[in-house]
Amino acid sequence: MRSNSLRHFFFLNKCRLLSISVDIVRSHVILPGDVMQPMEFNDALKVKNVIIDQEHEVLIDYINLLQMSMVNEASNTLLHKVLQGLVEYTKTHFFVEEEFMKAFHYPDASAHRAAHEAFRHKIADVLRDVERGEANLSADIMQFLQHWLTEHILKIDRKLSDFLADKSLAAP
Ligand SMILES: [Fe+2]
Ligand SMILES: [Fe+2]
Repeated sequence: MRSNSLRHFFFLNKCRLLSISVDIVRSHVILPGDVMQPMEFNDALKVKNVIIDQEHEVLIDYINLLQMSMVNEASNTLLHKVLQGLVEYTKTHFFVEEEFMKAFHYPDASAHRAAHEAFRHKIADVLRDVERGEANLSADIMQFLQHWLTEHILKIDRKLSDFLADKSLAAP
């Protein structure tokens, strides 16, 4: 288990990588206790495709940053920025996976695309509601994001990655 100061250090570095203002975040950050654990991009979540794995790690960074921003009652400006970042990066990531599916005639593409579409709608709705002040981020929403991404990676993306590996596209 990392010490809190080390976790602080890594967390602020992640903010830098995601182009989130470290100065704004630094004044708010208290690492979450036992109530909500951050996601960890560990070996169990790797699908062994270097491009897809790197993008999943960024998505997890966004979800963790969003969670910490929420736990620390960060300003609405910061919450919006992080949530918008998550929505935009999700679109980019899904586009990449969908291009892989198209290029290699992936047989389960329509079910995979449908799962992406449902999630795209869900987080767009969350963003819209938060922007209009009709909803706040909640532990339920954070748990949904964590759960959805974990299940999707383990059950759906892994299947795609195995297929791509058979097509000799796997990471070395
Ligand atoms: Fe996917
Ligand atoms: Fe994915």
